[in-house]
Amino acid sequence: MNYFNSDKISLIQKLLKNYLNNIPLTKSNSSLIKSTLFRAFESEEFLSIYRSFAVEVATHFYGNAYDTCLQTSPTPRIFFPNSHGTSIHSDYWYGHGLSAITTWVPILNSISGATFYADHRKILNNYIDEHNFDLNYLKKISEEISIKENEVLPPPDCAFLFDSTMLHGSTLNTTDKTRISFDFRISRISDITSTKDLDNYLIFDKNINEYKLPYHKLYGKKILKYICGGQDKNTFAQQILIDSFSERYNLQITDQEAEIERYNYPILDGLINGYKLKNEYDAIVLASEYIAHDYFLNSQNCKSNIPIWSALENKQIL
Ligand SMILES: [Fe+2]
Repeated sequence: MNYFNSDKISLIQKLLKNYLNNIPLTKSNSSLIKSTLFRAFESEEFLSIYRSFAVEVATHFYGNAYDTCLQTSPTPRIFFPNSHGTSIHSDYWYGHGLSAITTWVPILNSISGATFYADHRKILNNYIDEHNFDLNYLKKISEEISIKENEVLPPPDCAFLFDSTMLHGSTLNTTDKTRISFDFRISRISDITSTKDLDNYLIFDKNINEYKLPYHKLYGKKILKYICGGQDKNTFAQQILIDSFSERYNLQITDQEAEIERYNYPILDGLINGYKLKNEYDAIVLASEYIAHDYFLNSQNCKSNIPIWSALENKQIL
């Protein structure tokens, strides 16, 4: 098995154990454990170790970290006794590119029966035929992968690294202990086999030898929040999407407008054609292209006076 040793691992484990201290690891505390881990992942102390640890992993795997990107924050895993974890899969199935590697870091109780299985010799890949993908094979694979030899049991100060085509999963926790771990992915930026949105990844900056959030095209810009009500268009969700999008990419919402929805899209049409609101803004952000899909369908060749962005798809529409 490909175990990776680093002195950062014990630092991370110590930090996260401190956060989880005094929380009984029972199913009834599931949300509390999860929110505590997310809080820890957002702390500057964790992020700084996480980012430098990722540089070590990328250097080990690719030779250097140039042209690679890193998951913004890791994914926590909480595996309760007698429960099923994640079904057998490869990360490639879920959109990660062929260059992607996953780093799995044990935190608590990564012991036999509570850890996960990895087909590290890639014997079971023969069952998977992309032209004839059959979910029924998963049961067979799940049985065959669950053998001692495939158990991931990293020695102290070690994490487990695996590529995106390796089948793995947590079939059943047969112990009376709750396992806590986290994992994250690093990938080549130019990986055309990936379906992931790289604006949601940290990009390696070789000038400072660190991963950092790339500047969004609208970074620091003033924006108009555009909301459109109507059937199947939840305005509450639209507000959340645009607010979070703006916060994440450091956009300032200086104005907002709601559509006069009974007459098609007069506001959106006006804004695109130069109609100005009170405050200054450099772009208009709407929750999703879907919000005005019929309008955009009819204006494919139309040019806008001002950039129109959708938060959900994270792309410029016009
Ligand atoms: Fe996975």
